Amino acid sequence: MNHSPGTRPSQLGGLDCPIPNAVVPVAGLGTRLLPATKSQPKEMLPVARKPIVQYVVEELARSGVRNLLFVTGRGKAAIENHFDPDLALRESLGKAGKEELLAALDFQELGLNILYTRQSVQRGLGDAILQGEAFAAGQPVIVALGDSIIGIEGNSTACRRMAEVFLAHDAAVVVAVEEVPEDHVSFYGIVEPGGVGDTFAIRSLVEKPAAKDAPSRLAVSGRYVFFPGIFEIIRRLRPDKRGEIQITDAIRMVAESGGSVLGVRLRPDETRYDIGNLPSYFETFIEFALADPDHGPRVRRYLRRVLARSRGGA
Ligand code: UTP
Repeated sequence: MNHSPGTRPSQLGGLDCPIPNAVVPVAGLGTRLLPATKSQPKEMLPVARKPIVQYVVEELARSGVRNLLFVTGRGKAAIENHFDPDLALRESLGKAGKEELLAALDFQELGLNILYTRQSVQRGLGDAILQGEAFAAGQPVIVALGDSIIGIEGNSTACRRMAEVFLAHDAAVVVAVEEVPEDHVSFYGIVEPGGVGDTFAIRSLVEKPAAKDAPSRLAVSGRYVFFPGIFEIIRRLRPDKRGEIQITDAIRMVAESGGSVLGVRLRPDETRYDIGNLPSYFETFIEFALADPDHGPRVRRYLRRVLARSRGGA
């Protein structure tokens, strides 16, 4: 469903997710996007009309998630402010008759219970996920990275699909995977598949391998479902050489000790937009701007003109 700014958040929902709880880590330093991230969270950078993290939240609501825990950190208060109701803004938009904007800002209509906790020291994604242990309360939990959007405008229900696979197969871990070009494998966790198809067993994982050593081109894509035992495994991990606790290491331990780790392939219309590096952020912005129902055609004409001009000058 297209979620143009006029679409009410309540129109996103549908089926409840069989795993209703999701952790969204947003505590990372975002150094690859400096200077843009010096005093603002990378998850709040805009992609076309909305901050990145808003697409993530809407995507989770679309999958039927009900409870969402943000793992925030120093300098991330803008995320909390964004999702808080702003009564003064609401009143002034109401008076100005800006109904469409009012609807687009009504996050309460997403039907999500949004909570926050902090990662005091940025010790890596594994450690950020560990901060969600009390929230998970011994139940399976979804994890969605706050700097990655799945599908144009977050138009995906991959998390619901992953939750269904998790429960149907009594899995320990389910990860979303996407095939990436060979020159991108060194940016991501890459899986060693033990089968083919839309859902397949994962034998092992390697964090950011060189292309020549990679077991496949299937990259872990920022969405996970974990069994409650994952927290104990994370606690046992040693930091890597950058001092970070890597979630890839925890998943590899589960896979290599015989636990059921499954990959769910993202569909062709579920591209993973990773905003954590500059080229990918630029590309995502352009693609989302081109898809904007009101302004996309104009952006397209502008890009054509700019490209023609730069070809002329070359
Ligand atoms: P990244 O792996 O992109 O790390 O995080 P980063 O620290 O944010 O960015 P760089 O490497 O300095 O540029 C992936 C997701 O995990 C969160 C980030 O906020 C992002 O949403 N994260 C990462 C944490 O919550 N805590 C961490 O310690 C690291």
